[in-house]
Amino acid sequence: PSIAASIAESEVIFIAVPTPPNTDGSVDLTYIEKVAREIAQALQPEMGYKVIVDKSTVPVKTGEKVSQTIKHYAGPNVQFDIVSNPEFLREGCAVDDLLHPDRIVIGANSEQAMNVIRRVYQPIHAPILETDVNSAELIKHAANSFLALKISYINAVAKVCEKTGADVELVAEGIGMDKRISRHFLNAGLGYGGSCFPKDVKAFINISRTLGIPFTLLEEVEHINDTQHIHFRDRLWVLKDKKIAVWGLAFKQNTDDVRESIALKLCEKLCGEGAIVTATDPKAMHTAAPILTPMGVKLVEDMYECARDAEVLVIATEWSEYANADLQKLAGVMRNRIIFDGRNILSPANLRAVGFEYHSVGRPSVEEA
Ligand code: UDX
Repeated sequence: PSIAASIAESEVIFIAVPTPPNTDGSVDLTYIEKVAREIAQALQPEMGYKVIVDKSTVPVKTGEKVSQTIKHYAGPNVQFDIVSNPEFLREGCAVDDLLHPDRIVIGANSEQAMNVIRRVYQPIHAPILETDVNSAELIKHAANSFLALKISYINAVAKVCEKTGADVELVAEGIGMDKRISRHFLNAGLGYGGSCFPKDVKAFINISRTLGIPFTLLEEVEHINDTQHIHFRDRLWVLKDKKIAVWGLAFKQNTDDVRESIALKLCEKLCGEGAIVTATDPKAMHTAAPILTPMGVKLVEDMYECARDAEVLVIATEWSEYANADLQKLAGVMRNRIIFDGRNILSPANLRAVGFEYHSVGRPSVEEA
C-alpha cells in the first residue's frame, strides 16, 4: 500500500530510515525530514490519534523537530504523538536481538503514547525502560559510544601489554570479572568497524560540540580506533613486494558487511606500500570485491589457497573458521610460517607447537622455533 493508505489504517507508524553521516560527522537528517513531511501530508483529523515512532538513530531533540515538521505540513486538528524507540540490533544476530533484547527503551512525553507502545511490545519478554523522548534518543548514542569506548580502552591497554610482556587476554579477564566492568566488549584487536559504532561515536562528538560541551573523551576513543590498524601494520617490517595473505574482510564475523571494515583499511595500507595482497572471507567476497579488486588485491575463495606461498598471514576478522584453522595444513602451504593475528583468535600454544612465528594484539609473541 501507499504511505498514505498505510497511515490511514495504522495506529502506530514506525520511521526506520537511514541516518547516514555527513562529511563533518553530523547526522544527515534529510530522510527523516522527508518522511515526516510525507506522514504530515497523509494525516487527516478523522483518522484519529496516531503514534509516530522513531526507530532510526537520531541526535537528541530530533523528536521535537519531527513533531514541529508534522505540525507545519499537516492540516489543522490532526492528533499525534512522537515516540523514540531506539534500535539495539547487532548485525548477524538481529532476530535473536529482536526477540530477546537486554532492554526495550520507550521515550514518550504522553501517557497515551506510552500506553500504545507498551501494547506493541507486550508479547516480548524484556525489561522496559520508559523515559521522555530526549532521554531515549540520547541513550542510543551514549550506549554505542560507551561500547566503542570499552573497545578503545582495551586496545590502549593492549599497547601497554605489548611494551611490557603482559597478556591483554588475562588483563581483560581480570578486570572483566568485576561485574561493574564485565568481560563483554573487551576483546582487543584491530578496532571497531561497521555501520554503527564509527558513525555513532562521530555523531555524538558532533552533537556535544554543537551543544557547546565538547566530549573530548570520545575524540580520543575515535583516535585510538583510527590508529589501531596503523600501529598493527608498524609491527611488520618492509612490505614492498611481500606476498601477504589476509583472512577476513567483513567488519566482524557472521556478516557480509564491509562498511567501515578495518580489514579493508588494512588491505589498502598494505597495497599502498607495495605488498602483493591476496584476501579471502567466508561471506564478504562479493561486497569487498568492488573495493579491493581495483586496488590490485587478488580474492581467493579457499582460505588455504589464499595463504599459499604467503610470506605473512594477517587475520583481520574474527571468523570461527579462522579460529579453528588446520594449522598443519596452513604450515604446509605458506612460504614463511608467520602470522599476524589482528583479532587474537588463535592460541599461541598451538602455534608454538606447529612452529609458527605468531604476533597478536597485546599478547606476548611466539618467536620462530
Ligand atoms: C552495534 C551494537 O552492538 C548494537 O547494539 C547496535 O544496535 C548497532 O551497533 P554491530 O555494528 O552489528 O552492532 O556490531 P558489534 O557486534 O557491536 O561489533 C562492532 C565492531 O566492534 C566490530 O568491528 C567488532 O569486530 C568490534 N569489536 C567488538 C571489538 O573489536 N572488540 C569487542 O570486544 C567487540
